[in-house]
Amino acid sequence: MDGTVNGISFEDTGPRDGIPVVLIHGFPFDRTMWEPQVRELSRNRRVITYDVRGHGQSPAGDGQYSIELFVDDLVALLDHLKAERAVLCGLSMGGYIALRAAERHPERLSGLVLCDTKSGPDTDEARIKRAATIFAVKKYGVPKFANEFIKAVLTEKTLKTKPAVVSSLLNSILANSPLGISGALLAMAARTDTTPALPKINVPALILVGKEDKITPPSASEAMLKALPKAAMHVIPGAAHMSNLENPAFFNEKLLAFLI
Ligand code: MLT
Repeated sequence: MDGTVNGISFEDTGPRDGIPVVLIHGFPFDRTMWEPQVRELSRNRRVITYDVRGHGQSPAGDGQYSIELFVDDLVALLDHLKAERAVLCGLSMGGYIALRAAERHPERLSGLVLCDTKSGPDTDEARIKRAATIFAVKKYGVPKFANEFIKAVLTEKTLKTKPAVVSSLLNSILANSPLGISGALLAMAARTDTTPALPKINVPALILVGKEDKITPPSASEAMLKALPKAAMHVIPGAAHMSNLENPAFFNEKLLAFLI
């Protein structure tokens, strides 16, 4: 079933019974990045994907976003789909949203999957870089930004040998507006530190991270592993930041084993 709630475009698929898994995409992509996971998981599991506000088919609106608003959107979606509890699985920005949702709404969570993400906030240096990116996206347009961004999130090998992954990611960036991209950058720059909440997250957690991830490196995942009471972690070979697409076989194996 496809639909929208408060302008948020979603897909709800797989068997109706059981606790759903909600897959939350990274910046500046959309829910199509989860295609290899939806195909695999939806055979036995209810799977919900959606486009974060300002991405994919969820309109940019006024472009004034915060991670708090993204969490409100997620909870409104869960309410709309009558999902009292869910396993939240977020990659990068999706992980920032999942972590803050876990902190604000622990009663809605039955498991947490943190992929290529971190609990710490932006450093001042990172905030200054985001401001420069906003300026560049507005001045030079989305295509130039997309071509540079894609190189930062994939391994050299993925860039050379997986043209379908590269073009699908590029297309999803190109479909987003400068306003939506800038709004998400501001939201990430202003996000809170969810590290103090980690010891209180009492549901089972799985941490997955690409071995060559430079944006949210394995060291950030190891720090979360130490702080979470019930977590396991796997480093994904042959992957940088988009580990679910760069090595879907390894990623899916670990995710399925966790969800059983
Ligand atoms: C993402 O992949 O969601 C972003 O690159 C995360 C970030 O910029 O912090």
